[in-house]
Amino acid sequence: MKRIRRIYKYFVHLLTAHNTNGFGVHSPYIYEFIQSVLRVKHPFYVFENIEAVRRQMLADNSKIFVTDYGTGTDRKSTVSEIARRALKEPAMAQILFRIVHHHQCKNILELGTSLGISSMYMASASAGCRVVTLEGCPAISALAQQNFDRLGLKHIKLINCNIDEQLSSILPTIGKLDFIFIDANHRYEPLMRYFETCLNHADEKAIFVIDDIYWSVEMEKAWREIKENNMVKATIDVYHMGIVFLNPMLHKRHYVVRIV
Ligand SMILES: C[S@@+](CC[C@H](N)C(=O)[O-])C[C@H]1O[C@@H](n2cnc3c(N)ncnc32)[C@H](O)[C@@H]1O
Repeated sequence: MKRIRRIYKYFVHLLTAHNTNGFGVHSPYIYEFIQSVLRVKHPFYVFENIEAVRRQMLADNSKIFVTDYGTGTDRKSTVSEIARRALKEPAMAQILFRIVHHHQCKNILELGTSLGISSMYMASASAGCRVVTLEGCPAISALAQQNFDRLGLKHIKLINCNIDEQLSSILPTIGKLDFIFIDANHRYEPLMRYFETCLNHADEKAIFVIDDIYWSVEMEKAWREIKENNMVKATIDVYHMGIVFLNPMLHKRHYVVRIV
């Protein structure tokens, strides 16, 4: 049922989205963002290194104990299954890379590391940035750390913790955030709590990316409320993710953009 709903939502997205060139978008800032971040397709050499790590994870059939934060239970899963289900697909992860690259973001927070694919994309985008990424499952965190070490990404700081319990105490130690990627618990209440907690530590021009805004009715409700938040100016809905701009110079406006 959830799957049928998501397919239906995707068709609605295709019908309501701005055309792929961004024509009809009046804000020069958002137009430039669409052209330079969403429309650009040329690969950077680091993409191949990160995708090689993904391929290795997809081929790894060893089993690990996974702590499920939805149910609080442990279960066994293969690394390949996690890589298939949890990780951002290349096109979306590359948008994260381009946001960090284009805006030269310095202080980045990710909620939900998994095997570290999206963290590695963000960290590879700017030599001067620091990525703090939070993951609860110890076995998954260990694999992510191995992946960061393999690519020599020393400016990623992985914290193995329960985000629900530790986000508030970690945030004051990181400083003002200019990019926040929320990809942990895909439910209404935790997502809204994470978003609102991070807002208090965000730079006035910070950008948030919220993953899977059409994943469920709850996620859609959270996305609607995030758009209404007074601190939120423009947003771009690219279906798989919602991009949120706090920049006070922008007019409050919500864009739907087709990127494939
Ligand atoms: C969708 S995956 C992240 C994928 C990753 N961002 C990527 O694209 O490469 C979500 C991760 O969030 C973690 N997670 C969910 N709820 C959490 C919580 N309350 N505390 C810590 N980690 C949590 C899960 O263990 C899972 O590994």
